[in-house]
Amino acid sequence: MPLPQLLTGKVAAITGGLTGIGRAIALEYLRHGAKVAVNHLGGPKDEPLVEVMQKDMLEITTTGGEESAESRFLLVPGDISQPETGREFVAKAVDAFGRLDVFVSNAGVCRFEEFLEVDPPLLGHTISTNLTGAFWATQAAARQMALAQSPPGGSIIGISSISALVGGGQQTHYTPTKAGVLSLMQSCAVALGKYGIRCNALLPGTIRTQLNDEDMSDPVKRTYMEGRIPLGRLGQPPDLAGPAVFLACEELSGYVTGAQILVDGGLFVNLQ
Ligand SMILES: NC(=O)c1ccc[n+]([C@@H]2O[C@H](COP(=O)([O-])OP(=O)(O)OC[C@H]3O[C@@H](n4cnc5c(N)ncnc54)[C@H](O)[C@@H]3O)[C@@H](O)[C@H]2O)c1
Repeated sequence: MPLPQLLTGKVAAITGGLTGIGRAIALEYLRHGAKVAVNHLGGPKDEPLVEVMQKDMLEITTTGGEESAESRFLLVPGDISQPETGREFVAKAVDAFGRLDVFVSNAGVCRFEEFLEVDPPLLGHTISTNLTGAFWATQAAARQMALAQSPPGGSIIGISSISALVGGGQQTHYTPTKAGVLSLMQSCAVALGKYGIRCNALLPGTIRTQLNDEDMSDPVKRTYMEGRIPLGRLGQPPDLAGPAVFLACEELSGYVTGAQILVDGGLFVNLQ
């Protein structure tokens, strides 16, 4: 049975939203009636993905009815590791849709590497995308929500990771960035509560996306991971969409801020 539309009239913006978790959240927000702006890295590799995304977004908004379809979504290229990209992305979303109610900082990279092999470019790229990029984009969204709209307020969601809470031998350059995103959301919850802005983190477990495709295509590794997850399966991107709608929806999560929600099929609490 379809759920009632929970985000009608809201404006949402999502970074890195052309694939995986970000894409699933963007499409679900559209299904729930929001207007949605999606940042993506840009470049020739994105072109076929942009085409598919536009088609999928159009399909949702056309069946949704009342407004002209094109007016409910926007795709904006830009490298989120650059401080100006977050600002420009928020400005374009506001130009198109008038305000910003929900911001999801999702863009991220993760390449597995042995700790002893990590070099400055890999560490730098991972930190500048996952943490510095999240910081500047979150600040741009917060400035809009706190200072530039009436009434002020909104919901900011940082896509952190189960890796914020546990170590990973081949992820020493990655896990600190995800702990950083969790910490960023906690501190922003404190800083921004007075403006009516809620800030929370979603912590995915192992979700099948291009991020871990290589790792999870090893059947031995996959079977081992599935065995460790109490719900008995790896996650899929849409598993994150419901929790992201919950955190976006003032009526459902209006008193939730500074929180972290694991979306991991129970992996974290399974000590086996
Ligand atoms: N898949 C998992 O198991 C898992 C687990 C925990 C956390 N996460 C987090 O979820 C988020 C989404 O990852 P995913 O699994 O959907 O993988 P994904 O690769 O499909 O999504 C990441 C997106 O970010 C984009 N991106 C990368 N660098 C960018 C940049 N500089 N500017 C703009 N966009 C950029 C990519 O193009 C891609 O579309 C990431 O932050 C990741 O760390 C994923």
